[in-house]
Amino acid sequence: MASKIIGMLGGGQLGRMSAQAGAKLGLETHVFCPETDSPASLVAASTTNAAYEDRDALAKFAASVDVITYEFENIPVETVKFLETLKPVYPSSHVLAIAQERIAEKTALNNFGIPTTRFAPAHSGADIQAVMKQWGTSTCIIKTTRFGYDGKGQAYVRGLDETDRAFASLKSDIVIVEEPVDFACEISVIVGRDQKGNVGAFTPGINVHENHILKTTSVPAPVSAALLDQAEDLARHLAEKINLIGILGVEMFVTRDERILVNEIAPRPHNSGHWTIDACECSQFEQHMRAVAGLELGSFSRHHDAVMTNLLGDEIYAGRALVPDGKTFFTDYGKTDAKPGRKMGHVTVLGTEVK
Ligand SMILES: Nc1ncnc2c1ncn2[C@@H]1O[C@H](COP(=O)(O)OP(=O)(O)O)[C@@H](O)[C@H]1O
Ligand SMILES: [Mg+2]
Repeated sequence: MASKIIGMLGGGQLGRMSAQAGAKLGLETHVFCPETDSPASLVAASTTNAAYEDRDALAKFAASVDVITYEFENIPVETVKFLETLKPVYPSSHVLAIAQERIAEKTALNNFGIPTTRFAPAHSGADIQAVMKQWGTSTCIIKTTRFGYDGKGQAYVRGLDETDRAFASLKSDIVIVEEPVDFACEISVIVGRDQKGNVGAFTPGINVHENHILKTTSVPAPVSAALLDQAEDLARHLAEKINLIGILGVEMFVTRDERILVNEIAPRPHNSGHWTIDACECSQFEQHMRAVAGLELGSFSRHHDAVMTNLLGDEIYAGRALVPDGKTFFTDYGKTDAKPGRKMGHVTVLGTEVK
């Protein structure tokens, strides 16, 4: 029997769209987040507003739900470990811990036989210099190992004389040093796995960023059929290796010589999977809720090619003015404050029908 009440840590748009998909299946969502009037709580059956460290509130929350998931990967791992002693949590705290820390993430990927760019930890500008000399390179990218998103907490180092300044700019005791990938394009695969071990993946999309924020995802990615297959296989392999239950977004680089390197993973529905709401038989959000609730995964097929565009800041007003025409679909995250760069909603335009 399916679980009926899903506990959702985090109140953002990913939680909102998951709750909406769950409602369609008769699943109630109980949101737990510190913020009031969050996008998810506006559509959820109930909400607890408390800090992720508040054990009393977490225990009450756990007692009120059948199973727990999260929509935000910066939930403290300790919080998820505590909840795991009370109720099942999917994906597991182990998967969350890997996705939260870039060095653990790339190390785990390599251990599973999945290639990434070259990387090393560094604790100072001198460490970064030593890595660059060892690699024989004059450029690198450094990133904070935790809490990065939309390109925040990163610096491009263009010479050995820039390492001290770059290290200081990240204000972190430890950084990851990465070799810059001269990629042909960036693609992503949204993969899902249910409690019976069934695995499926949506067709890879190509992602275009503006100012380090995802702007569009177009599906299918314009790469060879062999590369599309390889990207999907790689994501499926990863889902099995980490015993995933739920949805995982896998961001990848396609190099100019047609190799795939995984950049990062997110154990939740992913921005580059929003097109699945309107172009697939079962969206990434429905798949996620199905897996978490103990239902079997649905079909991952798409009925149309699609282009999804994020609406940032005041672009939302154009979205709100759209009139449904059977091929243009608008989703509003219900946020009131249209701050510049804030993800407010998205539009998906269907392309060619897939028979
Ligand atoms: N090693 C790299 N080589 C080339 N480009 C990179 C590299 N790492 C990150 N980038 C670029 O920066 C973007 C954001 O980096 P990412 O690691 O995905 O962090 P986040 O999405 O958490 O901010 C990537 O989508 C890519 O465009
Ligand atoms: Mg990223």
